[in-house]
Amino acid sequence: MTSPLPTQRHLFDIPPDVAYMNCAFMSALPMATIAAGERGLARKARPWIIDARDFFADSEAVRALFAQLINASAEDVALVPSVSYGMAQAANNIAVRSGQRILTLAEEFPSNVYPWMELARRAGAVVFPVPRPDDGDWTAALLAHLDSSIAIVAVPHCHWTDGALLDLEAVGLACRRIGAALCIDGSQSLGALPFDVRRIDPDFVATGTYKWLLGPYSTGFLYVAPRWQEGRPIEQNWIARKNSEDFAGLVNYRSEYQAGARRFDIGQHSNFALNPAVKSSLELLLHWGIARVFAAIKARIDSIAERAEQELEFGERPIAFARRALPWSEIGRLTAGRSPASARSSQCSCFAAREFAPDHTARLEQQ
Ligand SMILES: Cc1ncc(COP(=O)(O)O)c(C=O)c1O
Repeated sequence: MTSPLPTQRHLFDIPPDVAYMNCAFMSALPMATIAAGERGLARKARPWIIDARDFFADSEAVRALFAQLINASAEDVALVPSVSYGMAQAANNIAVRSGQRILTLAEEFPSNVYPWMELARRAGAVVFPVPRPDDGDWTAALLAHLDSSIAIVAVPHCHWTDGALLDLEAVGLACRRIGAALCIDGSQSLGALPFDVRRIDPDFVATGTYKWLLGPYSTGFLYVAPRWQEGRPIEQNWIARKNSEDFAGLVNYRSEYQAGARRFDIGQHSNFALNPAVKSSLELLLHWGIARVFAAIKARIDSIAERAEQELEFGERPIAFARRALPWSEIGRLTAGRSPASARSSQCSCFAAREFAPDHTARLEQQ
């Protein structure tokens, strides 16, 4: 049993009268991350101190750290700026035939929908959103729609509108049974919930770092299963080609790529300002341990739910950590006339708390 994670508030520049819990929107940057980013940015003031090795060192470091976080190998990770970019890579590689279906969830975040709509348009396939289940059990609803017509399942780990969790191991197993590719948007959970690619066996997982991964905007990762690592990237940049470390040989144009998922890296991935910041945040998360982060968040949400129930006179528990979402009708009932929970409130992320009146939130946070 690991020790509980004590408060880490001192690592963030958050004033005492602010109770910020909305990491599912974007997290605050740790102060060490800001310092690392400032040092990274300052390097560009003196470009003569940057040499060829620097184009790779931090990129490889963040690749390896993210791999560790999802139990992958660094070879399986590409550096991307966004979920939409990562999903565009996936959509550029998975073959879909006319008449096949791509399964998403109703009201899924657009970055994990538009790439599939475009692929479907090109292939004559159909994007089918699984309707929101009345009982909030997205996993069961999704599994009920899996059949041999499905080419791709494009899902989040945690629905961005209601926070409901999907059982990705069960979804992965079902996808493999019918030969469907599994593409996961991990941005609402990676950094906050344990995630193991060896157990889930997804085809692609895309995420930005600016939510629970505590990173800056325009940085992210794409996990690419080994079976796709010979694929076709959407852009052809110089640094993704084999031997790009040899700056003197760059015009010896070559068809081979760097090893593993690196062919899917975005151009200019040697981001001298932001990579050190991402590195610092990933090191912090790994130092904490995701299981401990998860346990700390869960305990906090459970205590907010419990006290909201007792102190805000709901009469019953408005939010709680669970695999299932609150039924839609229940959210409507709770929100009537006041806004302790919203249509985007959630059991598994903290952003419901944003909707509490600030004094209530601060009171619950501080006590
Ligand atoms: C579930 C989810 N996916 C993706 C994103 C961001 O998409 P992108 O990285 O393409 O900007 C968000 C932003 O709020 C989100 O909530």
